[in-house]
Amino acid sequence: MTSPAPTHSDRYPAGSAAFPHRDLVGIAGLAPHEILFLLDEAEQWVELNRAAHKRADRLAGLTIINAFFENSTRTLLSFEIAGKRLGADVVNMHAAQSSVKKGETLIDTAMTLNAMRADAIVIRHASSGAVRLIADKVDCPVLNAGDGQHEHPTQGLLDALTIRHAFDLGKGAFFNGLTVTICGDILHSRVARSNIHCLTTLGADVRVCAPPALMPAEVEQLKVTPFHDFDAALQGADVVMMLRLQQERMQGQFIASPREYRHLYGLTPGRLAKAKPGAFVMHPGPMNRGVEIDSNVADLPGRSLITGQVEMGVAVRMACLEVLTRSQRGVEGWS
Ligand code: NCD
Repeated sequence: MTSPAPTHSDRYPAGSAAFPHRDLVGIAGLAPHEILFLLDEAEQWVELNRAAHKRADRLAGLTIINAFFENSTRTLLSFEIAGKRLGADVVNMHAAQSSVKKGETLIDTAMTLNAMRADAIVIRHASSGAVRLIADKVDCPVLNAGDGQHEHPTQGLLDALTIRHAFDLGKGAFFNGLTVTICGDILHSRVARSNIHCLTTLGADVRVCAPPALMPAEVEQLKVTPFHDFDAALQGADVVMMLRLQQERMQGQFIASPREYRHLYGLTPGRLAKAKPGAFVMHPGPMNRGVEIDSNVADLPGRSLITGQVEMGVAVRMACLEVLTRSQRGVEGWS
């Protein structure tokens, strides 16, 4: 089903050339070997996180600021846990309690974080492009924890790592031969965009399914097959990834009613039966149970990877923080 797993040594360039980027703003533009490098680096952290003693002091002495201008449960917590498990000092800035509420501009907030000499800044913001803007103003690595409907790169990576584990693919493996159906509010979803870039770069066949109003016009430019008929999109799918309706990004009416939406696009046990036998179910959370996904699918033992995604999230964020701070830490072989 998949190409043979190549070894590390013949896959990655040496030292900092393995991931020659200061920031992680998106998956778009990353080379296949750069994505695989981050996933492979994450494997050691999956192991550490499963051990009784979950601490590696690689980032001791470094300060990481999590600047979240939008709500978050999983992403904020897992970035915090990731930084702490690596021994860094982690500080969380919640926009609701910050000077943003007093009218401070994004650039002024960025300059303030920069003056505090953070060693890495993790940012979530409601505006697409805000993270790039901040990255261009500060002196340390910036990690995008979700910007508007643009990208959520660590989610794309953690989803790829979850798929790699579910299919027992191992390090270095591409995803050729796997069909992944992403269904829901594709238009407003940064998770969909990062997943599309990540999965297609790794060689998977990606299908996107949404009602016409929630399908982005740019879908033609992405290497995916668009569907409006969920049953057709499910045929032959190895993985079904469900997305929430992002009401907070909707101005106007995009769906007739939640009831009709569930009828056409909700993942019920009957619908799941239309995918490949044994197909896996994913969802980045937060879930709206009974709308895009039924509880008896979301909690299906052996088939639902949803808690596995959360687990992989910590490992992937540890890998990203560790790799992006290597040049600052003067790690051997990195310039
Ligand atoms: C997603 C997000 O914030 O983009 N959640 C997450 O990070 N796990 C998806 C969503 O909010 O629907």
